[in-house]
Amino acid sequence: MESFSALLRTASREQHEEVRGSTFIGDLLGHRLGVDAFARYTEQLWFVYGALESGARQLAADPVVGPFVRPELFRMTALERDLEYLRGPGWRTTADALPATLEYAERITACVRTWPAGYIAHHYTRYLGDLSGGQIIRDTAEKTWGFPKRGDGVRFYVFEGIPNPAAFKRTYARLLDAVPGDELERQRIVAECKRAYGLNNGMFEALGKEFPLMA
Ligand code: HEM
Repeated sequence: MESFSALLRTASREQHEEVRGSTFIGDLLGHRLGVDAFARYTEQLWFVYGALESGARQLAADPVVGPFVRPELFRMTALERDLEYLRGPGWRTTADALPATLEYAERITACVRTWPAGYIAHHYTRYLGDLSGGQIIRDTAEKTWGFPKRGDGVRFYVFEGIPNPAAFKRTYARLLDAVPGDELERQRIVAECKRAYGLNNGMFEALGKEFPLMA
C-alpha cells in the first residue's frame, strides 16, 4: 500500500501544478512584478501564518498534531522582519487581509478548533511548499529586487534551524506516515490538502487582480 506521505503528494500533484501555473506566480517568477506586489504577498502570508502558528501553539499537546509542531518551522518572526523592511516600521497599521486570505486563515482556524488532523493538511501544504518551491521564489526575489541574499525581505524563505531540508522532508514524511486514522480519515486529509491548495490559488487570483500587468 502507498504510504500516506506518497499518497498526499501524488493526490495533490494536479493542484500543485495549478498554483505553480497561477498568473501571479508566473509574473513573479518572470520578474514582471514590482516590489509592492511582493510586499503585498508577504503581508498576506503574515495573516495565513498568524492562523497557522497560533494553531500550532494551541495544538502542541495534541496527540496527532503535536509531533508536527517544530519551532524551527515557525515563520512569524521572519515575516515580521521582512515586512518591517518591505513596508517600514508602520507596516502593522496598514496591513490588511484580502477576502481570499481571510477565507484561508479562517479555514485553518476552523480545523484547529474542530478537526486537528485536518490542520495537518494545512501544515504540510505550507511548510513543505516553503522548503521546496519557496526557495525558487526566494532566489527570484533576491535577483529581481536586489534583496540581500537570505536577508531582509526574504527571511521568510530562510529556515535557519533546518540546515538540511532534504533530511527534514524525509523526517516529515515519516511523521505523515505515522498519522493515526483509517482510510477514510486519510482521504479526508487528502481532500483538505486539495482545499488548502485551492485557498492558496484563491489568494493568488486576488493578488493577480490587484497587480495586473499592463498589456
Ligand atoms: C513558485 C512556485 C512553485 C514552485 C516552482 C514549486 C516547486 C516545487 C518543487 C520543485 C517541489 C519538489 C521538491 C521535492 O521533490 O523535494 C515542490 C514541492 C512542494 N510544493 Fe511547490 N512549488 C511552488 C509553489 C508552491 C505553492 C504555492 C505551494 C502551496 C501553497 C506548494 C506546495 C508544495 C508542497 C506541499 C510540496 C511538497 C510535496 C511533497 O514532497 O510531498 N508549492 N514544489
